[in-house]
Amino acid sequence: MIATAKQNLEVSITGLGVKVPDRVVTNDELSQYVDTSDEWIIERTGIRERRIAAPEEALSDLALPAARDALAQAGLEGKDIDLIIVATVTPDMAFPSTAALVADAIGATEAAAYDLSAGCTGFMYALAQGYGMLAGGLSQRTLVIGGDVLSKILDWTDRSTVVLFGDGAGAVILEAAPEKGFLGFELGADGAGGVHLWLPGSGSRRFDEPEKYVKMNGREVFKFATRVLVQSAEDLLAKCQVSIDDVDLYVPHQANVRIIDHATRKLGVPSERVVINVDRYGNTSSGSIPLALADAAADGRLRAGALVLMTGMGAGLTWGSALMRWTLAGVPQ
Ligand SMILES: CC(C)(COP(=O)(O)OP(=O)(O)OC[C@H]1O[C@@H](n2cnc3c(N)ncnc32)[C@H](O)[C@@H]1OP(=O)(O)O)[C@@H](O)C(=O)NCCC(=O)NCCS
Repeated sequence: MIATAKQNLEVSITGLGVKVPDRVVTNDELSQYVDTSDEWIIERTGIRERRIAAPEEALSDLALPAARDALAQAGLEGKDIDLIIVATVTPDMAFPSTAALVADAIGATEAAAYDLSAGCTGFMYALAQGYGMLAGGLSQRTLVIGGDVLSKILDWTDRSTVVLFGDGAGAVILEAAPEKGFLGFELGADGAGGVHLWLPGSGSRRFDEPEKYVKMNGREVFKFATRVLVQSAEDLLAKCQVSIDDVDLYVPHQANVRIIDHATRKLGVPSERVVINVDRYGNTSSGSIPLALADAAADGRLRAGALVLMTGMGAGLTWGSALMRWTLAGVPQ
Protein backbone atom coordinates (compact mmCIF):
# COMPACT_ATOMS: atom_id res chain seq x y z
CA MET A 1 0.00 0.00 0.00
CA ILE A 2 1.35 3.39 -0.94
CA ALA A 3 -0.33 6.78 -1.01
CA THR A 4 0.23 10.47 -0.62
CA ALA A 5 -1.83 12.40 1.92
CA LYS A 6 -4.86 14.32 0.68
CA GLN A 7 -4.20 18.01 0.29
CA ASN A 8 -7.22 19.22 2.22
CA LEU A 9 -6.92 16.87 5.18
CA GLU A 10 -3.86 17.76 7.17
CA VAL A 11 -3.03 15.54 10.12
CA SER A 12 -0.04 15.79 12.38
CA ILE A 13 1.55 14.69 15.64
CA THR A 14 0.72 17.08 18.48
CA GLY A 15 2.20 15.16 21.43
CA LEU A 16 4.95 12.62 22.02
CA GLY A 17 5.84 10.58 25.10
CA VAL A 18 8.10 7.60 25.74
CA LYS A 19 8.88 5.18 28.55
CA VAL A 20 11.50 2.49 29.10
CA PRO A 21 11.91 0.22 32.13
CA ASP A 22 14.40 1.33 34.79
CA ARG A 23 16.58 -1.75 34.67
CA VAL A 24 19.65 -1.48 32.40
CA VAL A 25 21.13 -4.77 31.19
CA THR A 26 24.63 -4.43 29.75
CA ASN A 27 26.34 -6.76 27.31
CA ASP A 28 28.62 -7.88 30.13
CA GLU A 29 25.61 -8.92 32.19
CA LEU A 30 24.21 -10.88 29.24
CA SER A 31 27.51 -12.72 28.87
CA GLN A 32 26.83 -14.20 32.31
CA TYR A 33 23.70 -15.91 30.93
CA VAL A 34 24.80 -16.96 27.41
CA ASP A 35 28.05 -17.60 25.55
CA THR A 36 28.60 -14.12 24.14
CA SER A 37 30.75 -11.03 24.75
CA ASP A 38 30.52 -7.26 24.84
CA GLU A 39 32.97 -7.16 21.93
CA TRP A 40 30.89 -9.53 19.71
CA ILE A 41 27.61 -7.75 20.40
CA ILE A 42 29.02 -4.29 19.73
CA GLU A 43 30.81 -5.36 16.55
CA ARG A 44 27.85 -7.28 15.07
CA THR A 45 24.96 -5.11 16.28
CA GLY A 46 26.18 -1.81 17.77
CA ILE A 47 24.17 -2.53 20.93
CA ARG A 48 25.80 -1.72 24.29
CA GLU A 49 22.87 -2.05 26.67
CA ARG A 50 19.09 -2.41 26.72
CA ARG A 51 16.23 -1.83 29.21
CA ILE A 52 14.47 -4.90 30.57
CA ALA A 53 11.07 -4.89 32.28
CA ALA A 54 10.69 -6.14 35.86
CA PRO A 55 8.87 -9.47 36.32
CA GLU A 56 5.67 -7.71 37.35
CA GLU A 57 5.86 -5.07 34.56
CA ALA A 58 3.62 -5.50 31.48
CA LEU A 59 3.22 -3.49 28.30
CA SER A 60 0.53 -1.21 29.71
CA ASP A 61 2.91 -0.19 32.53
CA LEU A 62 5.14 1.36 29.87
CA ALA A 63 2.38 2.46 27.51
CA LEU A 64 0.50 4.43 30.16
CA PRO A 65 3.23 6.86 31.23
CA ALA A 66 4.17 7.35 27.58
CA ALA A 67 0.52 8.10 26.76
CA ARG A 68 0.17 10.51 29.67
CA ASP A 69 3.25 12.47 28.55
CA ALA A 70 1.97 12.61 24.97
CA LEU A 71 -1.41 13.88 26.20
CA ALA A 72 0.29 16.52 28.36
CA GLN A 73 2.38 17.80 25.46
CA ALA A 74 -0.74 18.01 23.29
CA GLY A 75 -2.58 19.82 26.09
CA LEU A 76 -5.27 17.13 26.20
CA GLU A 77 -6.85 14.81 28.74
CA GLY A 78 -7.78 11.16 28.31
CA LYS A 79 -11.45 11.99 27.83
CA ASP A 80 -10.57 14.02 24.72
CA ILE A 81 -9.29 10.92 22.89
CA ASP A 82 -11.75 9.04 20.66
CA LEU A 83 -9.47 6.35 19.23
CA ILE A 84 -6.59 4.35 20.74
CA ILE A 85 -4.43 2.03 18.68
CA VAL A 86 -1.69 0.02 20.42
CA ALA A 87 0.84 -1.61 18.09
CA THR A 88 2.47 -4.55 19.83
CA VAL A 89 3.21 -8.28 19.75
CA THR A 90 3.45 -8.40 23.54
CA PRO A 91 0.11 -7.10 24.85
CA ASP A 92 -0.65 -7.57 28.55
CA MET A 93 -2.78 -10.56 27.44
CA ALA A 94 -4.58 -11.79 24.28
CA PHE A 95 -7.75 -10.06 25.45
CA PRO A 96 -8.84 -7.59 26.60
CA SER A 97 -6.65 -5.52 24.33
CA THR A 98 -3.97 -3.36 25.90
CA ALA A 99 -5.60 -0.42 24.11
CA ALA A 100 -8.83 -1.03 26.06
CA LEU A 101 -6.86 -1.19 29.32
CA VAL A 102 -5.12 2.08 28.45
CA ALA A 103 -8.45 3.69 27.55
CA ASP A 104 -9.82 2.78 30.95
CA ALA A 105 -6.73 4.00 32.81
CA ILE A 106 -6.64 7.41 31.11
CA GLY A 107 -10.41 7.93 31.26
CA ALA A 108 -10.98 7.78 27.50
CA THR A 109 -14.53 6.59 28.02
CA GLU A 110 -15.71 7.54 24.52
CA ALA A 111 -12.79 5.97 22.66
CA ALA A 112 -12.66 3.00 20.33
CA ALA A 113 -9.61 0.95 21.30
CA TYR A 114 -7.79 -1.99 19.73
CA ASP A 115 -4.39 -3.60 19.39
CA LEU A 116 -2.61 -4.05 16.09
CA SER A 117 -0.05 -6.73 15.24
CA ALA A 118 2.60 -5.95 12.63
CA GLY A 119 5.81 -6.99 14.39
CA CYS A 120 8.43 -4.30 14.73
CA THR A 121 6.64 -2.35 11.95
CA GLY A 122 3.62 -1.92 14.21
CA PHE A 123 4.15 1.77 14.93
CA MET A 124 4.26 2.59 11.20
CA TYR A 125 1.05 0.64 10.56
CA ALA A 126 -0.66 2.27 13.55
CA LEU A 127 0.37 5.77 12.43
CA ALA A 128 -1.08 5.11 8.97
CA GLN A 129 -4.33 3.81 10.50
CA GLY A 130 -4.58 6.77 12.84
CA TYR A 131 -4.00 9.11 9.92
CA GLY A 132 -6.69 7.34 7.88
CA MET A 133 -9.27 7.50 10.68
CA LEU A 134 -8.65 11.23 11.16
CA ALA A 135 -8.55 12.02 7.47
CA GLY A 136 -11.76 10.04 6.96
CA GLY A 137 -13.48 11.97 9.74
CA LEU A 138 -14.04 8.99 12.06
CA SER A 139 -11.68 10.30 14.73
CA GLN A 140 -10.84 13.78 15.97
CA ARG A 141 -8.03 12.88 18.36
CA THR A 142 -6.18 9.58 18.13
CA LEU A 143 -3.68 8.13 20.58
CA VAL A 144 -1.19 5.83 18.82
CA ILE A 145 1.07 3.73 21.00
CA GLY A 146 3.92 1.50 19.85
CA GLY A 147 5.58 -0.68 22.40
CA ASP A 148 6.83 -4.11 23.31
CA VAL A 149 8.25 -6.07 26.21
CA LEU A 150 9.97 -8.65 24.05
CA SER A 151 12.08 -9.76 27.02
CA LYS A 152 9.00 -11.75 28.12
CA ILE A 153 8.99 -13.89 24.96
CA LEU A 154 12.75 -14.38 24.55
CA ASP A 155 14.61 -17.57 25.37
CA TRP A 156 17.20 -16.29 27.83
CA THR A 157 19.47 -19.22 26.89
CA ASP A 158 19.42 -18.37 23.14
CA ARG A 159 22.31 -16.05 22.35
CA SER A 160 21.12 -15.47 18.78
CA THR A 161 18.07 -13.49 19.96
CA VAL A 162 18.60 -12.40 23.54
CA VAL A 163 21.39 -9.96 22.71
CA LEU A 164 19.27 -8.04 20.19
CA PHE A 165 16.11 -6.95 21.95
CA GLY A 166 15.00 -4.59 24.69
CA ASP A 167 11.75 -3.23 26.15
CA GLY A 168 10.18 0.19 25.60
CA ALA A 169 7.14 2.11 24.42
CA GLY A 170 6.24 5.42 22.83
CA ALA A 171 2.99 7.28 22.27
CA VAL A 172 1.87 10.06 19.96
CA ILE A 173 -1.31 12.09 19.64
CA LEU A 174 -2.64 12.63 16.13
CA GLU A 175 -4.89 15.57 15.38
CA ALA A 176 -5.97 17.68 12.44
CA ALA A 177 -3.27 20.30 11.94
CA PRO A 178 -3.43 23.78 10.48
CA GLU A 179 -0.33 23.06 8.46
CA LYS A 180 1.00 20.01 6.73
CA GLY A 181 1.87 16.96 8.84
CA PHE A 182 1.86 13.58 7.08
CA LEU A 183 2.80 13.56 3.40
CA GLY A 184 2.41 9.84 2.71
CA PHE A 185 2.81 6.22 3.77
CA GLU A 186 4.10 3.00 2.26
CA LEU A 187 3.24 -0.32 3.95
CA GLY A 188 3.85 -3.92 2.93
CA ALA A 189 3.88 -7.52 4.10
CA ASP A 190 5.38 -10.81 2.92
CA GLY A 191 3.82 -13.69 4.83
CA ALA A 192 5.97 -16.19 2.92
CA GLY A 193 8.97 -14.87 4.81
CA GLY A 194 7.15 -15.03 8.15
CA VAL A 195 8.95 -18.22 9.21
CA HIS A 196 12.20 -16.31 9.52
CA LEU A 197 10.95 -14.47 12.62
CA TRP A 198 8.10 -16.20 14.38
CA LEU A 199 6.51 -17.69 17.46
CA PRO A 200 4.85 -20.92 16.27
CA GLY A 201 2.30 -22.26 18.74
CA SER A 202 1.44 -18.85 20.17
CA GLY A 203 -2.01 -18.80 18.53
CA SER A 204 -4.76 -21.08 17.26
CA ARG A 205 -2.57 -23.12 14.86
CA ARG A 206 -1.42 -26.43 16.37
CA PHE A 207 2.26 -27.24 16.01
CA ASP A 208 3.79 -30.59 16.93
CA GLU A 209 6.66 -28.73 18.53
CA PRO A 210 5.25 -25.42 19.75
CA GLU A 211 7.69 -22.73 20.79
CA LYS A 212 7.42 -20.59 23.87
CA TYR A 213 9.97 -18.11 22.61
CA VAL A 214 10.88 -16.06 19.53
CA LYS A 215 12.62 -18.07 16.79
CA MET A 216 14.70 -16.15 14.28
CA ASN A 217 16.84 -16.84 11.23
CA GLY A 218 19.11 -13.85 11.74
CA ARG A 219 20.84 -13.97 8.37
CA GLU A 220 17.57 -14.08 6.40
CA VAL A 221 16.08 -11.26 8.48
CA PHE A 222 19.27 -9.24 7.96
CA LYS A 223 19.00 -9.61 4.16
CA PHE A 224 15.30 -8.75 4.23
CA ALA A 225 15.86 -5.73 6.49
CA THR A 226 18.63 -4.18 4.41
CA ARG A 227 16.51 -4.59 1.26
CA VAL A 228 13.18 -3.24 2.51
CA LEU A 229 14.53 -0.32 4.52
CA VAL A 230 15.95 1.11 1.31
CA GLN A 231 13.11 0.06 -1.04
CA SER A 232 10.27 1.29 1.15
CA ALA A 233 11.90 4.68 1.71
CA GLU A 234 12.77 5.13 -1.98
CA ASP A 235 9.27 4.17 -3.12
CA LEU A 236 7.63 6.58 -0.71
CA LEU A 237 9.96 9.46 -1.55
CA ALA A 238 9.28 8.91 -5.26
CA LYS A 239 5.51 8.78 -4.70
CA CYS A 240 5.64 12.02 -2.69
CA GLN A 241 8.03 13.59 -5.22
CA VAL A 242 10.53 14.39 -2.50
CA SER A 243 14.30 14.04 -2.86
CA ILE A 244 16.31 12.34 -0.12
CA ASP A 245 18.35 15.58 0.02
CA ASP A 246 15.26 17.34 1.36
CA VAL A 247 14.86 14.91 4.28
CA ASP A 248 16.05 16.61 7.47
CA LEU A 249 15.80 13.58 9.72
CA TYR A 250 15.92 9.87 8.92
CA VAL A 251 14.45 7.67 11.66
CA PRO A 252 14.98 3.99 10.80
CA HIS A 253 13.84 1.08 12.94
CA GLN A 254 16.55 0.44 15.51
CA ALA A 255 17.42 -3.25 15.03
CA ASN A 256 21.14 -3.32 14.31
CA VAL A 257 23.54 -0.48 13.57
CA ARG A 258 24.90 -2.44 10.58
CA ILE A 259 21.40 -2.53 9.03
CA ILE A 260 20.98 1.21 9.67
CA ASP A 261 24.43 2.00 8.22
CA HIS A 262 23.65 0.00 5.09
CA ALA A 263 20.33 1.78 4.53
CA THR A 264 21.87 5.18 5.25
CA ARG A 265 24.64 4.59 2.72
CA LYS A 266 22.32 3.27 0.01
CA LEU A 267 19.81 6.07 0.48
CA GLY A 268 22.55 8.70 0.63
CA VAL A 269 21.56 10.28 3.96
CA PRO A 270 24.34 12.25 5.69
CA SER A 271 25.12 10.69 9.09
CA GLU A 272 24.17 13.84 11.02
CA ARG A 273 20.59 13.40 9.77
CA VAL A 274 20.26 9.81 10.99
CA VAL A 275 18.85 8.98 14.42
CA ILE A 276 20.60 6.07 16.15
CA ASN A 277 19.86 4.93 19.69
CA VAL A 278 20.05 1.15 19.25
CA ASP A 279 23.28 1.29 21.30
CA ARG A 280 21.28 2.25 24.42
CA TYR A 281 17.99 0.41 23.90
CA GLY A 282 18.58 -2.51 21.53
CA ASN A 283 15.60 -3.40 19.34
CA THR A 284 12.44 -2.35 21.19
CA SER A 285 10.19 -3.48 18.32
CA SER A 286 7.19 -1.14 18.03
CA GLY A 287 8.74 1.18 20.61
CA SER A 288 11.81 1.80 18.50
CA ILE A 289 10.72 4.67 16.23
CA PRO A 290 8.92 6.77 18.88
CA LEU A 291 11.92 6.33 21.22
CA ALA A 292 14.18 7.54 18.41
CA LEU A 293 11.88 10.51 17.72
CA ALA A 294 12.06 11.48 21.41
CA ASP A 295 15.85 11.31 21.38
CA ALA A 296 16.02 13.48 18.27
CA ALA A 297 13.66 16.00 19.92
CA ALA A 298 15.90 16.04 23.00
CA ASP A 299 19.09 16.63 20.97
CA GLY A 300 17.43 19.45 19.00
CA ARG A 301 17.34 17.77 15.58
CA LEU A 302 13.58 17.15 15.58
CA ARG A 303 12.27 20.69 15.29
CA ALA A 304 9.12 22.20 13.87
CA GLY A 305 9.35 22.27 10.09
CA ALA A 306 11.76 19.33 9.79
CA LEU A 307 10.97 16.81 7.04
CA VAL A 308 11.06 13.41 8.75
CA LEU A 309 11.35 10.01 7.07
CA MET A 310 10.61 6.97 9.24
CA THR A 311 10.94 3.36 8.12
CA GLY A 312 10.24 0.21 10.09
CA MET A 313 10.50 -3.51 9.33
CA GLY A 314 9.96 -6.68 11.25
CA ALA A 315 7.99 -9.86 11.82
CA GLY A 316 5.31 -10.74 9.29
CA LEU A 317 7.51 -10.10 7.49
CA THR A 318 6.35 -6.49 7.31
CA TRP A 319 7.72 -3.09 6.48
CA GLY A 320 6.46 0.47 6.36
CA SER A 321 7.47 4.10 5.93
CA ALA A 322 5.93 7.43 6.80
CA LEU A 323 6.99 10.85 5.54
CA MET A 324 5.91 13.91 7.47
CA ARG A 325 6.61 17.55 8.09
CA TRP A 326 7.13 17.78 11.87
CA THR A 327 4.82 20.45 13.24
CA LEU A 328 5.50 20.13 16.94
CA ALA A 329 7.88 22.49 18.72
CA GLY A 330 9.70 21.50 21.89
CA VAL A 331 10.82 18.40 23.69
CA PRO A 332 8.54 15.70 25.12
CA GLN A 333 8.25 15.74 28.91
C1 LIG B 1 21.65 -11.83 14.42
C2 LIG B 1 22.83 -11.10 13.79
C3 LIG B 1 23.30 -9.98 14.70
C4 LIG B 1 23.96 -12.10 13.59
O1 LIG B 1 25.07 -11.43 13.03
P1 LIG B 1 25.88 -12.13 11.85
O2 LIG B 1 27.02 -11.26 11.54
O3 LIG B 1 24.89 -12.45 10.76
O4 LIG B 1 26.38 -13.41 12.57
P2 LIG B 1 26.18 -14.92 12.11
O5 LIG B 1 24.75 -15.33 12.33
O6 LIG B 1 26.76 -15.08 10.74
O7 LIG B 1 27.06 -15.64 13.19
C5 LIG B 1 28.47 -15.50 13.18
C6 LIG B 1 29.02 -16.36 14.30
O8 LIG B 1 28.70 -15.75 15.56
C7 LIG B 1 28.03 -16.69 16.41
N1 LIG B 1 27.09 -15.99 17.23
C8 LIG B 1 25.76 -15.79 16.99
N2 LIG B 1 25.23 -15.07 18.00
C9 LIG B 1 26.24 -14.80 18.85
C10 LIG B 1 26.32 -14.08 20.06
N3 LIG B 1 25.25 -13.49 20.60
N4 LIG B 1 27.51 -13.99 20.67
C11 LIG B 1 28.60 -14.57 20.15
N5 LIG B 1 28.59 -15.27 19.02
C12 LIG B 1 27.41 -15.37 18.37
C13 LIG B 1 27.38 -17.66 15.46
O9 LIG B 1 27.17 -18.92 16.10
C14 LIG B 1 28.40 -17.76 14.36
O10 LIG B 1 29.43 -18.63 14.75
P3 LIG B 1 30.12 -19.65 13.69
O11 LIG B 1 30.75 -18.75 12.68
O12 LIG B 1 31.08 -20.39 14.54
O13 LIG B 1 28.98 -20.45 13.15
C15 LIG B 1 22.43 -10.51 12.41
O14 LIG B 1 22.22 -11.56 11.50
C16 LIG B 1 21.20 -9.66 12.47
O15 LIG B 1 21.19 -8.58 13.03
N6 LIG B 1 20.11 -10.08 11.81
C17 LIG B 1 18.86 -9.33 11.84
C18 LIG B 1 18.12 -9.61 13.10
C19 LIG B 1 17.03 -8.61 13.36
O16 LIG B 1 17.22 -7.43 13.16
N7 LIG B 1 15.88 -9.08 13.83
C20 LIG B 1 14.78 -8.26 14.19
C21 LIG B 1 14.17 -7.63 13.02
S1 LIG B 1 12.89 -6.55 13.49
